[in-house]
Amino acid sequence: MALIHLIYVSSATAACDAAELEKILVASARNNAPLQLTGMLLYAQGNFMQVLEGEEAAIDQIYSRIVKDPRHTDVFVIEREPIEQRSFDQWSMGFRRLGATEALAHPAYAPFFERGFDAAKIGAHPGLALDMLKEFSIDQR
Ligand SMILES: Cc1cc2nc3c(=O)[nH]c(=O)nc-3n(C[C@H](O)[C@H](O)[C@H](O)COP(=O)(O)O)c2cc1C
Repeated sequence: MALIHLIYVSSATAACDAAELEKILVASARNNAPLQLTGMLLYAQGNFMQVLEGEEAAIDQIYSRIVKDPRHTDVFVIEREPIEQRSFDQWSMGFRRLGATEALAHPAYAPFFERGFDAAKIGAHPGLALDMLKEFSIDQR
């Protein structure tokens, strides 16, 4: 079965407080595992970056819900492509809250991080979003 990944960035709305964030992670764990979806969600200064990996139909099913979720807005797809293998197969949805200091301390990624993830700049560099997700997932909870 063909695997794809979908990577997007978005902005959290006022509706997305810590309790809602926790609910998102609980729903992700519940829904992603049976669909064999894996991935990583980064949260930084009111911005999300998420990668979802799995079969196209499963990704479409979950993404169509995510995109309508009022807890975020300005969803901008950076990449949707076939992949040879998963990069986050240990998590139905990993999560990391990233501080500005941590992101800005990273010389390779600091230019793409200005009050959250800079969607246009990241989108203009293929492969960068996945590298960032991998790099910042190392320390996850
Ligand atoms: C940034 C963000 C990422 C999300 N990621 C996922 C996800 O990976 N899987 C998922 O099932 N729901 C995710 N959600 C939540 C969905 O939008 C939706 O609320 C949830 O799938 C509903 O699940 P339920 O019908 O089981 O309650 C995410 C929401 C936001 C705002």
